[in-house]
Amino acid sequence: MHAPLPSAVALAESVAEKSLLRFLTCGSVDDGKSTLIGRLLYDTKLVFDDQLAALEKDSRKHGTTGEAIDLALLVDGLEAEREQGITIDVAYRYFATAKRTFIVADTPGHEQYTRNMATGASNADLAVILIDARKGVLTQTKRHSFICSLLGIRHVVLAVNKIDLVDYREDAFDAIEQAYRAFAAPLGFREITAIPLSARDGDNVTTRSDRLPWHKGPTLLEHLEAVDVESDATSKPFRLPVQWVNRPNLDFRGFAGTISSGTVRPGDEIVVAGSGKTSRVARIVTMDGDLASASAGDSVTLTLEDEVDIARGDVLSHPADRPEVSNQFAARLIWMQDERLLPGRSYLIKLATRTVPATVTSLKHKIDVNSLDHLAARTLGLNEIAEVNVETGAALAFDPYADNRETGAFIVIDRETNATAGAGMILHGLRRATNIHRQASSVDKATRARLKRQKPAIVWFTGLSASGKSTIANLVEVKLAARGQHTMLLDGDNVRFGLNKDLGFTDADRVENVRRIGEVAKLFVDAGVITLCSFISPFESERRIVRDLVGDGEFLEIFVDAPLSACIARDPKGLYKRALAGEIPNFTGVSSPYEPPKAPELTLLTTEASVEELADRVVEALEQRGLIERV
Ligand code: ADX
Repeated sequence: MHAPLPSAVALAESVAEKSLLRFLTCGSVDDGKSTLIGRLLYDTKLVFDDQLAALEKDSRKHGTTGEAIDLALLVDGLEAEREQGITIDVAYRYFATAKRTFIVADTPGHEQYTRNMATGASNADLAVILIDARKGVLTQTKRHSFICSLLGIRHVVLAVNKIDLVDYREDAFDAIEQAYRAFAAPLGFREITAIPLSARDGDNVTTRSDRLPWHKGPTLLEHLEAVDVESDATSKPFRLPVQWVNRPNLDFRGFAGTISSGTVRPGDEIVVAGSGKTSRVARIVTMDGDLASASAGDSVTLTLEDEVDIARGDVLSHPADRPEVSNQFAARLIWMQDERLLPGRSYLIKLATRTVPATVTSLKHKIDVNSLDHLAARTLGLNEIAEVNVETGAALAFDPYADNRETGAFIVIDRETNATAGAGMILHGLRRATNIHRQASSVDKATRARLKRQKPAIVWFTGLSASGKSTIANLVEVKLAARGQHTMLLDGDNVRFGLNKDLGFTDADRVENVRRIGEVAKLFVDAGVITLCSFISPFESERRIVRDLVGDGEFLEIFVDAPLSACIARDPKGLYKRALAGEIPNFTGVSSPYEPPKAPELTLLTTEASVEELADRVVEALEQRGLIERV
């Protein structure tokens, strides 16, 4: 008879009483991963009776183990029950012994599933790295180990499985252990424990095997029960990222969140990382009454002695040990979506409770996870890892990931799809950010604009090649000049002769093209000039970056809309003909995408009105917005 699965309540109670170990298993099905997890669940009796009956039946039918139960089928059976529709595919399994409660993250072992592994590893304290004793240390073993070290795992079990298939030989085991230790030396693991075992037969998994008398170390379960990973989160500096400001009435103002590290007590002096404002903790409020102290992992509400301006996303710490605050930092990044990372593109970054716009300002190198070599790269694809510099739209409070896994890790969110696009670990802040200060000028934008009797703006024409952007923009400038307005026209082809002559037409280059033009256009706006920009600018996200560079109402997006067929028929430079013949790669509309604006200030259908009329409409739009005076 097998004991029934403990209820959620019982499990929760045991979690509260016993220590919890989160670990992950790395390896492929062939290495015996499913069998190993199945063995742990089976031997710790966490299998339902009906599951067991089904398993015995299945084992006879499909199993590869003769009369014995095929434990891999147990795990694969659970796999089929996995919730569908989750984007990140990690299965968590729970089991418990008298000493400890365990959560195992089981991640698919395929080469390409870096992101699944990263997800499983991101809150694990220990990794069980499976090795097939016949095969030894493989490329995949190295990849998994590297990702584990990247994500801050400091304890490794090298599970040398299928030891029965090498006749329980000590020398075979020793050779593998030595090879692994040599490879892993630079990865910074605190402790590596190698264990010879057979998941199929149960040797050294939960019970000691007399077929391996030379092994003096623990069994796998003994080690998992005893290993000391007591995360030192409580001894680290105090950090409370504020989740929300709790203000039920005028007399109460509390700052709620989960303490990510350290300990806090009433009377402690605290500082708001971003503003530098200080106060003292008045009370630590919880559902179960006030506390005399609270530590890492506790969800609390702090009240302070003074009225201090604090918002969601702020980080509270002790003044003597503050997080870094900067809008630029160096990080390692794991890319997790098919659409490539493009430096210069605007993404969102979520770090602790704060979400801000961010761009990768430079991609320093990719890391080959198999050889650990550094490779040059301009973009990053699915599952690739790189070292990058990041700039955020607002200053963030953070710690290096090596010091604090909670306040040092972030996710990257795609602004168009809202999906998680990547995961990052901060290496260090960039000092450059704090050494450069804006120089205030005495004559400002408003003064310059007043002298020109206009309000400056960027008038951004976007559309396919040959849609009519440049023709219309040119006529608009003629009309504005005739009215005495101060203008500047920046045009795709022209800018590519000078400022951007180093750029081509890959996605990455187009992003950089538009980024630079945005900065130049912003300078012209600062000069008080109405700045007309005519660029294909095929991507919504870069057009938004330019919009965000200037003030509200200072960016007018004009969608110059013409069907592709009309552009191909016009083909003033003969480029479509060549692109369609395959002579020009990455040609917009032919072999490179164009994302039409979602909410442009103005759309001009160039097949339905004359250039004259369309240009007048733009001028009218400027009048309506009060940028120029009516005549
Ligand atoms: S953008 O996509 O980076 O905004 P931009 O407006 O600067 O493009 O330049 C577009 C002009 O470059 C086109 O009008 C065309 O004359 C020329 N051109 C040359 N190759 C390409 C290409 N592959 N795709 C689009 N335009 C190209």
